[in-house]
Amino acid sequence: MHILMRTLTFAALSVVALGSPAMMRAVQPSPWSNFNDNPIFYPNINATSWRTLYGRTLQLSDKSILLSWEDYDPAAALTYFPIWKSTDGGASFKYFSRVDDQVNGWGNWYQPFLYALPEPFGGYPKGTILLAGVSTPRDLKEAYIDLYASANKGRDWEFVSHIVYGPGREVIDRGEQAIWEPFLHMHKGQLICYYSTQVDPNHNQKLSHKTTKDLRHWSQEVDDVAEPDSSVRPGMATVAYSPVSKKYVMTFEYCGGPIASGCPVYYKVSNSPLAFGSVTSQPIIPNDGQLNPNGSPFVIWTLEPGNNGNGIFIASGNSREEIFVNTDAVDPNGWKPINVGQWSAYSRELRIINTPKDSAAQGEQKLLITNGGNIGCSGSCYNFVANGVVDIPNYPRS
Ligand SMILES: *[C@@H]1O[C@H](CO)[C@@H](O)[C@H](O)[C@H]1NC(C)=O
Repeated sequence: MHILMRTLTFAALSVVALGSPAMMRAVQPSPWSNFNDNPIFYPNINATSWRTLYGRTLQLSDKSILLSWEDYDPAAALTYFPIWKSTDGGASFKYFSRVDDQVNGWGNWYQPFLYALPEPFGGYPKGTILLAGVSTPRDLKEAYIDLYASANKGRDWEFVSHIVYGPGREVIDRGEQAIWEPFLHMHKGQLICYYSTQVDPNHNQKLSHKTTKDLRHWSQEVDDVAEPDSSVRPGMATVAYSPVSKKYVMTFEYCGGPIASGCPVYYKVSNSPLAFGSVTSQPIIPNDGQLNPNGSPFVIWTLEPGNNGNGIFIASGNSREEIFVNTDAVDPNGWKPINVGQWSAYSRELRIINTPKDSAAQGEQKLLITNGGNIGCSGSCYNFVANGVVDIPNYPRS
């Protein structure tokens, strides 16, 4: 997690100028169509802090889409992760349920992450929905990354286990033992949880993971990006896998790193999702001669349309609206920007979604991009949750 003060976007300015966010709702996109910059949820104008942040989604087998985010509802005694649901390809969402803190008495606050079990695991059936996120009290005294599960498609939730403990305070200041940003990935009968941690006194912040074989007991911590220079601050790991090249890519922001100022987007490529630690980091340098993406990245892999079973990695960083694509081989010189017309955001989420055959999208897969707003946006700057759906791009070969 980092603090990146953003200038007001045109959208944010429009809201303030109009006085009421509700007046800004655009024409609602038609179901299963392509669209951009589609407002989904406007927080109360009096919501605290950033009002909203960190949108995360999951598509279920019935093609509905669940959505959560960091929510700053001023009326809630304890913070919680809202769960909203779309049955029209992300064009519109309605409130569906919420994930309350069931064990700490603190509230569920930061960085929700949604994941569906790809196989029966830990006594839960395939398709069980997991949510990992940071639970911390209002005074930020300490924190857990906690795991919740829903066996009924996100309607009801139960606490499963504590994954990581942060003795606190849960703030980004150096020397505070905070934990952030869980990311789940199933691998060979183990569930991996990647996260950022400030708990190790040898590092300002490092990226680590733990594994579990039963969802309840978690392994010792294994480091993935732990730099000897204690002034640098890698953060916000996400991981994608190409079944074509059998390569795993972890993207992260590298605050205070060797190139550029701010938090340039870096990545590691590994043959194992458990062995990023021994791999050298490198920056995403786009081949358009413009600035490298900076801050809160996200990465996915997908088949490339019409390319005979070959795929592309797609990455995103906060400072640029474009997405950055690379082939299965992840050539360091191969990152190419593509403009998809969607506002940038703090930790903007990328997801491939399936569409119904009898819909406007005719069963084609699409790229869903979810914005929770920008960190540093408070006061007269107004965050809200928005999304876009675009065609999966082809790798630019010219
Ligand atoms: C926001 O707070 C102000 C001042 O307390 C209050 O007058 C207003 O009704 C609140 N707005 C909403 C939408 O709750």
